[in-house]
Amino acid sequence: MSDDKVALVTGASRGIGAAIAERFAADGWDLTISSRGREALESRAAELSEMGAGRVEVIPADMTDGDAVAELATGHVEAFGRCDTLVINAGMGQKGAVADLPVRRFDRLYQVNVRAPYILLQTLLPTLRATAETNGVAKVIAIASITGVYPEPELSAYGSTKAALISLCETFNLEESRNGVSATTIAPGYVDTDMSDWLKEQIPGDEMITVGDVATIAHSVTQLSRYAVLPNVVLTRPGNNLHRA
Ligand SMILES: NC(=O)c1ccc[n+]([C@@H]2O[C@H](COP(=O)([O-])OP(=O)(O)OC[C@H]3O[C@@H](n4cnc5c(N)ncnc54)[C@H](OP(=O)(O)O)[C@@H]3O)[C@@H](O)[C@H]2O)c1
Repeated sequence: MSDDKVALVTGASRGIGAAIAERFAADGWDLTISSRGREALESRAAELSEMGAGRVEVIPADMTDGDAVAELATGHVEAFGRCDTLVINAGMGQKGAVADLPVRRFDRLYQVNVRAPYILLQTLLPTLRATAETNGVAKVIAIASITGVYPEPELSAYGSTKAALISLCETFNLEESRNGVSATTIAPGYVDTDMSDWLKEQIPGDEMITVGDVATIAHSVTQLSRYAVLPNVVLTRPGNNLHRA
């Protein structure tokens, strides 16, 4: 049965974002879904509708393009006038030691993983505040990474974007949580998606965290009241490397 909520989910074409969108669809939510390719989003939208979603808007946007990111946020507001949950999930990985990783790759990581989230937060803030005022609460969920908390060799640039994202959301909470708007970062170790394909000869996909695990945490966050602020959730894999990705 619908509880009439509305969410914007970035990176919803596949992986973790698709799983989170599915979890919301099962509750009958209205959704804006975004990533770069319209075709993948259109077929995802049809699947989400079949799963029970209300209205599904498709707004493609490349997170490296600041104007497109702002237009995604304003497009969502024009479509729905409300945002109960903003899921900042679209992200990119990049492996390379400090000795080797070219600065242009470092810059691209920051555009997608830090700058775009900042633009989304800033552009959607008036709507998040208004939603919290009308409905009691609005939540932001940002997918960070365990490497943003516990550093991992050769993931310095990536890990530092995720540390920045965690810090951004914690400061956002200091500034906005009394308005009923709060952010939770989820910081998983390796999750079985396309992004972790490069590693699957060493760690089989079926030994990684599942997208459903991350979606379960995300969905739980949406059930919290305005009085519960959950800053960061670290999700790690079984075994004796507790704080390794
Ligand atoms: N997989 C892991 O092991 C893992 C672990 C910790 C954290 N994370 C984080 O979880 C989030 C989701 O990752 P995932 O594993 O689900 O990855 P994924 O399967 O590769 O999916 C990434 C999603 O982001 C979109 N995306 C990528 N670059 C984009 C860009 N420049 N502009 C707009 N959309 C873009 C992709 O769609 P298009 O390509 O169609 O645009 C896709 O929908 C990321 O922030 C990632 O850093 C992943």
